[in-house]
Amino acid sequence: MPMSDDSNRLPKVLIPQVKLHARLAELAQEISNDYQGNEIVAVCILKGSFIFFSDLIRLLDLPMTCEFLGVSSYGNKMSSSGEVKVTLDLNEPLSGRHVVVFEDIVDTGLTLSYILNQLKARRPASLKSCSLLLKPDSLKTEVHVDYLGFKIGKEFVVGYGIDYAGKYRGLPYIGYVEQDH
Ligand code: IMP
Ligand code: MG
Repeated sequence: MPMSDDSNRLPKVLIPQVKLHARLAELAQEISNDYQGNEIVAVCILKGSFIFFSDLIRLLDLPMTCEFLGVSSYGNKMSSSGEVKVTLDLNEPLSGRHVVVFEDIVDTGLTLSYILNQLKARRPASLKSCSLLLKPDSLKTEVHVDYLGFKIGKEFVVGYGIDYAGKYRGLPYIGYVEQDH
């Protein structure tokens, strides 16, 4: 079998694994301190957040339940459609609960803003958001991120759960790929 040259095309490293894990430990400490033993509902936004979420919740020193919300906004393109499709709803009501939403990346902000508005309508006792990445120069709407991992530029990133056309989710680091022209 001929050798594959896939390794030449691996995305370049933007945030290495050690930096991700160090920042996650800081975020987990901050969140654990803020809630001080109060039970939270940790909401994972699928699919992109599944690795970030599972690494972070294992560092939280809090009682919690986990919920999963499936949303899709991109199709296979590299720019936001602004349309958010809910592909999987939560299993439990949020009424009276302390809710923290975990997102992989805030780009235009349209997805997180849509999600927060939807969840607010379910009358949680409190609602906060945590995003691994934020692209401040791409924001098109005002959206509040309570806990942020890293600010990045406008580059299209992949890895650590984040995909391009469904690929690269298993990369252990955040990498970047060249933009379509
Ligand atoms: P927004 O609605 O533009 O803020 O986009 C948010 C969603 O788009 C994220 O949850 C990601 O799924 C996806 N997204 C935004 N930027 C990137 C990127 O650089 N790489 C991969 N997915 C991205
Ligand atoms: Mg996402």
